Amino acid sequence: MTENQNTILQYETVAYLPGERAIRIIDQTLLPGTIRLILLRTAEEIREAIYLLKVRGAPAIGVTAAFGISLLTEGALPAVEDDTPERHAENYEALRSFFLDRAAYLESARPTAVNLAWALRRMQSVLDSCGSRQEMTMREICALLREEAYRIRNEDVEVCRRIGEYGLTLLKPGDGVLTHCNAGQLATIRYGTATAPMYLAQERNYGLHIYADETRPLLQGARLTAFELSSAGMDVTLLCDNMSASLMRTGAVQAVFVGCDRVAANGDAANKIGTSMAALAAKRYGVPFYVCAPTSTIDMSLETGEEIVIEQRPAEEVTEMWYRERMTARDVKVYNPAFDVTDHDLITGIITEYGIARPPFTESLRALFKEPQG
Ligand code: MRU
Repeated sequence: MTENQNTILQYETVAYLPGERAIRIIDQTLLPGTIRLILLRTAEEIREAIYLLKVRGAPAIGVTAAFGISLLTEGALPAVEDDTPERHAENYEALRSFFLDRAAYLESARPTAVNLAWALRRMQSVLDSCGSRQEMTMREICALLREEAYRIRNEDVEVCRRIGEYGLTLLKPGDGVLTHCNAGQLATIRYGTATAPMYLAQERNYGLHIYADETRPLLQGARLTAFELSSAGMDVTLLCDNMSASLMRTGAVQAVFVGCDRVAANGDAANKIGTSMAALAAKRYGVPFYVCAPTSTIDMSLETGEEIVIEQRPAEEVTEMWYRERMTARDVKVYNPAFDVTDHDLITGIITEYGIARPPFTESLRALFKEPQG
């Protein structure tokens, strides 16, 4: 399906179509030129869509994985011979082993964004809770999995909105805000994380000036952030990644807001490659640097960012993609990590759905997870 580009915000980033036995996504590799909605039905299609960044952004791939594993597990139901409580034990064993196999396959698509593993673990814990419930049929278990997938999706909207409300308390009308990559609606279900304060500011006539880093090599800033924010009517200016220090030096930027893929317990935050350069420049020019992080992206099992696995991507993304012809000699080696880790001492605050964590993050993040949250 191809539509006018001004309508991008009307499409759901990820939708579950049970009637069609499919997940529907916007193929983000074609944006902004073409809005094409595609259906994913098999484990291979779902994994490939995540690996190729047809659907991308930590929360969106978490939701895709949740819908995906629910869809695939339901697809295994016709093979269940006698779906009665009497056969619970045998059928459950087979269904669980099918689930674990497909979940491991989906999880292998991208290693850095913790939401992928997090969403699959959440789904698995629903499945595990059914093991001892002898009265349940496999169909009933699949219905619970589907409910959990919808819950993960719906929670994402609320989490992003709350991050937006907290983030907005850090801004004044007329401020300039720089962002990197796309932590927008296209990376979530609604609002985005780093863009949530911008969407709320837009509703409240703040008149912000948004600066979007282009984000080499896959251009999520140019292709996605500039596209969705301008579609929303915001004042957005695109710049190449190597221009952000010069922009900050002029005093045009009052805050940097970025998303993240995984935050370690000490506040080190992995996000799209180039984020740490923006943080270094922000520190130099006294611009506050905020990481917008749903608590699902905070991985308290890792002490520091050293332990975060950084995805390496194919060389062609740097040498050929987007160019009419190869832009470097054939034998040149290429360094192409998809993410970098911003050291915690460059981060002013981590904005979560439960509030803004401030340094020392080892304490403030631990407190977030300890206190009962409303
Ligand atoms: O490689 P991508 O496009 O999936 O990288 C996305 C980012 O780095 C985002 O900033 C992050 O996932 C947060 S999205 C709310």
